[in-house]
Amino acid sequence: MGRTHYVREDSERILLDQETIMKRVAELAKQISADYENKNLVAVCILKGSVMFFSDLMKEVTIPCELEFMSVSSYGSGSSSSGNVKIKYDLQDDIRDKDILIVEDIVDSGITLHNLTNLLKQRNPASLKICCLLDKKERRVAEIDVDYVGFEIPDEFVIGYGLDFDGKYRNYGEIGILKRELYE
Ligand code: IMP
Ligand code: MG
Repeated sequence: MGRTHYVREDSERILLDQETIMKRVAELAKQISADYENKNLVAVCILKGSVMFFSDLMKEVTIPCELEFMSVSSYGSGSSSSGNVKIKYDLQDDIRDKDILIVEDIVDSGITLHNLTNLLKQRNPASLKICCLLDKKERRVAEIDVDYVGFEIPDEFVIGYGLDFDGKYRNYGEIGILKRELYE
């Protein structure tokens, strides 16, 4: 009974199903747990897009750590980058001498992460790394090093598992490619 999930209905096709995502998330968590053994790990969730990824990832991390949140914006309500990064919600604590791991949903042009890492570096953390679920490598404009990448994906607009279009579609366990007629 009832309709199929609206995110699935508005997707051209599903790019990454739940099982594929969870398997990769567990691998990343294992690697992070090993790399940050004996460090002061502070994992920073970049709201809102990485909310699903962040909670799934951090549940699998097995070492002591702190969870922090930040909200930055580089997009308006459309589907292409404006190039501006604005801090909407900042970290509440000092990150000096902490090992900061930025957890982001997707890196596209790289402008958001480029500007964000420059800003956080000025606060003198012991280290600063980036973990991204998705990487649209061919769209890169700004130079950044992404230390942990879940999946490299083609240049398509994706939704679900935290990723939105115009604020919708975040609440789904899979990642789909948004139907073109819905944004063109
Ligand atoms: P960048 O500054 O161009 O790298 O943009 C990164 C941000 O753009 C991400 O954190 C997302 O919020 C958004 N974004 C880029 N590509 C997509 C997509 O395919 N679906 C949903 N959001 C996207
Ligand atoms: Mg985002």
